[in-house]
Amino acid sequence: MLKYETVDYDKENNALVILDQTKLPGEISYISLTDTEDIREAIYLLKVRGAPAIGVAAAFGLAAVSKRIEANTPEVFFEELNKRKEIINAARPTAVNLSWALERMMRVCENELPRAREAGAEGISCLTECLVKEALRMKEEDIAVCRKIGENGLTLLKQGDGILTHCNAGGLATCRYGTATAPVYIGQEQGYDFHVYADETRPLLQGARLTAFELQAAGVDVTLLCDNMAASLMVKGKIQAVLVGCDRVAANGDTANKIGTSGVAILANYYHIPFYVCAPFSTIDFQTETGKDIPIEERNADEVTTLWYKEKMTADGVKVYNPAFDVTDHSLITAFITERGIIAPDDLKKMDV
Ligand code: MRU
Repeated sequence: MLKYETVDYDKENNALVILDQTKLPGEISYISLTDTEDIREAIYLLKVRGAPAIGVAAAFGLAAVSKRIEANTPEVFFEELNKRKEIINAARPTAVNLSWALERMMRVCENELPRAREAGAEGISCLTECLVKEALRMKEEDIAVCRKIGENGLTLLKQGDGILTHCNAGGLATCRYGTATAPVYIGQEQGYDFHVYADETRPLLQGARLTAFELQAAGVDVTLLCDNMAASLMVKGKIQAVLVGCDRVAANGDTANKIGTSGVAILANYYHIPFYVCAPFSTIDFQTETGKDIPIEERNADEVTTLWYKEKMTADGVKVYNPAFDVTDHSLITAFITERGIIAPDDLKKMDV
């Protein structure tokens, strides 16, 4: 597995530290962030990306900015913190982990307000310390959750299976193990060999730049393919399971994930290949009824026309459609692999406790 930390907190400088994923695989470089707008921009630009990693980065980011708030009372501090939370939360709309993590941080701070009031001059540092602790706890939880997803997912796989994945739901998208890659990494620990096929994932190439990179670095047998090649592998019997991550699962099981996921699910269904969504509970949004209610991020046209090319690939004025995610209908999902077990889409609602 990759030895690099995706997201971390620098206690000495009170800063969010991220591995800059826009530089991968060519360069390993870390960025240290302390300013609200810089944190929002880093998330928007995908320097840190993948739903669970975005959540933990936002939590560390809020902890870092909390250390720089100047306020006379805990109430004023809380109001100021809330303003900064709103700015970070606006970075990306689809991955529910972003708002989930930020709301959790605000709740912890709010619960601590009475104690902070009593603590007098020390009150605000009590609040900032409890924010740092909560963010560190989230990171540890994410590692444990991904490991459990890996153990549960492994029960569905056999030695030698061919596994197709889309985008990067790997260690780089989380704090360790990934979600869709976790069964592969846990399997590797136990002596399993899998053949992983990674969709390149246009337009931002998370599959080519990140999934292929991290699996290869871990010694996993990985083969890269263009997004339009999956059917030709499936028809040859090379794929025994599809494992993908998710950015938001609605209460009925409809699942938003990287653009192109829904097409892969339709192909898997046609070829009778199980299609599994690896989903930490933090990504399940029981407040959102169906996939139609999930906000889908639209991104800049130049990601399609210009980025990755020496020169622009389209005539000036050509209109571009560039949604970052699509929604896979729950009827196409064989099961969700979660930290609490394997759950059929129709049983998801029962887990809302
Ligand atoms: O735009 P990205 O790179 O943040 O999209 C990431 C994905 O779609 C992942 O599959 C998803 O966040 C799950 S990561 C465990």
